Amino acid sequence: MMVRYKILEILKEQPGFISGSNIGEKLNISRAAVAKHIDVLREEGYEISSVQNRGHKLIAEGDILNPNEVDRALTTKFIGREIFSQRQVKSTNDLLKSNAEKGCKDGALCICEEQRLGRGRRGRSWTLEPKAGIAFSIVLRPDFAPELAPNLTLLMGLAVNKALRSLCGAESKIKWPNDIIINGKKVCGILVEMITEERDIKYVICGVGINVSNKEFPEDLKNIATSIYIETGKAFLRKDVLAAVLNNFEELYIAYCENVSFAPFLEEYKASCINIGRELKAVYDNKEIIAAGEDIAADGSLIVRQNDGSLLTLRSGEVSIRGVFQ
Ligand code: BTN
Repeated sequence: MMVRYKILEILKEQPGFISGSNIGEKLNISRAAVAKHIDVLREEGYEISSVQNRGHKLIAEGDILNPNEVDRALTTKFIGREIFSQRQVKSTNDLLKSNAEKGCKDGALCICEEQRLGRGRRGRSWTLEPKAGIAFSIVLRPDFAPELAPNLTLLMGLAVNKALRSLCGAESKIKWPNDIIINGKKVCGILVEMITEERDIKYVICGVGINVSNKEFPEDLKNIATSIYIETGKAFLRKDVLAAVLNNFEELYIAYCENVSFAPFLEEYKASCINIGRELKAVYDNKEIIAAGEDIAADGSLIVRQNDGSLLTLRSGEVSIRGVFQ
């Protein structure tokens, strides 16, 4: 652990002030070095009071998303156990891809404060302003066949939906295959990208954007986007939301790798999915179709009933679903 985070641990354990020399003795560094590290912690956003002859005291932790905070909040075995963190990124998916190519660990996580050129499905963008939410990616190196990878979008959807419901008390639902919705508006989008080598999966990048603290959205998004804060009226720490998602996801992912089937998740998925029994517009085979969501198949496909009564099976990745809520 970095020295400044060791200092932070000491400050967290200490209800009152603790002197710089006392901290220095514990860590075998000088008082001046302690003061320098404390300045860096302040720059990171920790509110620390330093008073002559009394020492240092942690006043408030705030909504800080750094590897140290995330690591402490995770209960996972391997997901998020290697963390790449940058203040500003173009896209966490792209940054993690380059680290995956260099051989980073299975489960490695990429986080940022601000994302400028984030990518969504079908050429859409996903921008993250500082403090507003979470844009993260994880890399997975599964042994299963490439055909099973699209369901990772569904599993991540389940993980986010569970986290929003249990941690935040939100009435969220999954819009198959890759959106999480609250009150008809999107709070989270998922982008899973697979890199194959010959006929095998080399790795998969699962990228997730969650609107956490936004108080409002720009004109072009305000009718379709929402945040956890807007919907619940409560402020959640991004590290807690992220950890809840990843803790849930790891459990689902391990079970999926063991079963090599989506069937065990089917009932929970159906109960969480907003599309069943609702009208939807889908772009399938370059044609727009209007249909009603009928069921989720055992392999994770969405079965829809067209206006002429016929059933059509939509695979995630082949389809874009719109206009579910008008
Ligand atoms: C969508 O709704 O179309 C998917 C949006 C996915 C956005 C996330 S934010 C973190 C990760 N990095 C990216 O560039 N995209 C994903």
